[in-house]
Amino acid sequence: MDSEIIGVEDWSELQKNLEATIPVYDKINRFATLGQVSRWRRIVRKKLPDNGLILEVGCGPGSFAEDVEGKKLVCLDPIPEMLRIAKIRVDKKRDERGDSRAEFIQGTAEDLPFQNDKFDMVCTLFSFRDWYDKRKGLSEVRRVLKPGGTLMIVDPAKINFIHGFLGHFWMKYWVGTYARVVCKQKEHPWKWLTKTYINFGTTKKYTKMMTEEGFENVTGKVIFPGMATIWTGKVPISKDFE
Ligand SMILES: C[S@@+](CC[C@H](N)C(=O)[O-])C[C@H]1O[C@@H](n2cnc3c(N)ncnc32)[C@H](O)[C@@H]1O
Repeated sequence: MDSEIIGVEDWSELQKNLEATIPVYDKINRFATLGQVSRWRRIVRKKLPDNGLILEVGCGPGSFAEDVEGKKLVCLDPIPEMLRIAKIRVDKKRDERGDSRAEFIQGTAEDLPFQNDKFDMVCTLFSFRDWYDKRKGLSEVRRVLKPGGTLMIVDPAKINFIHGFLGHFWMKYWVGTYARVVCKQKEHPWKWLTKTYINFGTTKKYTKMMTEEGFENVTGKVIFPGMATIWTGKVPISKDFE
């Protein structure tokens, strides 16, 4: 596992562990981020376009998707159980609001099951870190975005070695101890959060990678209180003529 690639065996082990987090996913996430996760999700929701089609890659159990109001939405995840739970949550909220139903598709970022130029915006929250081939995923996202479309990524920040060390400490001891208590098991699935965080690169690394994979106006901003980065990039208007 490194900052670009997760090997097949590690990725399938990671996926098993992610599936095991479902019953306690929101509870531990809130604790791990001192409640900031809802604010970060709101920041992304405010940037969604009023019209057009949105794709969330790695929707998990629907924690972000359920509060996307009044927009056409497709949710993608490789884990069928994540999609099953997400559909129940998202359908319920969308029905209550009178929004059209979202679509739920099984797949991975690296092999998106969509035609070229389909989406106006792609967002991915706390999932990019888990993609097994980040460059391949970014190039697939670029392929399915329309010219001028936007990608937004949210994931734990790592500004530099010292910041990364503090983040590692936080996840291993603060989140790890809480997860062990909540999950009532020593070998709890949240240990993989620490593993993927250790191998995740810096904010700058992925800003550069997005530019190299053909996004423009790329920014990577560490947001308060320094636990997460929001990366944004646009597909060039001239995409289809390249
Ligand atoms: C921690 S959950 C994030 C859930 C949700 N987006 C949120 O805001 O909380 C990460 C999700 O990314 C998915 N994932 C992992 N590898 C992926 C890949 N290569 N392509 C797409 N999704 C992936 C996992 O299955 C998991 O459901």
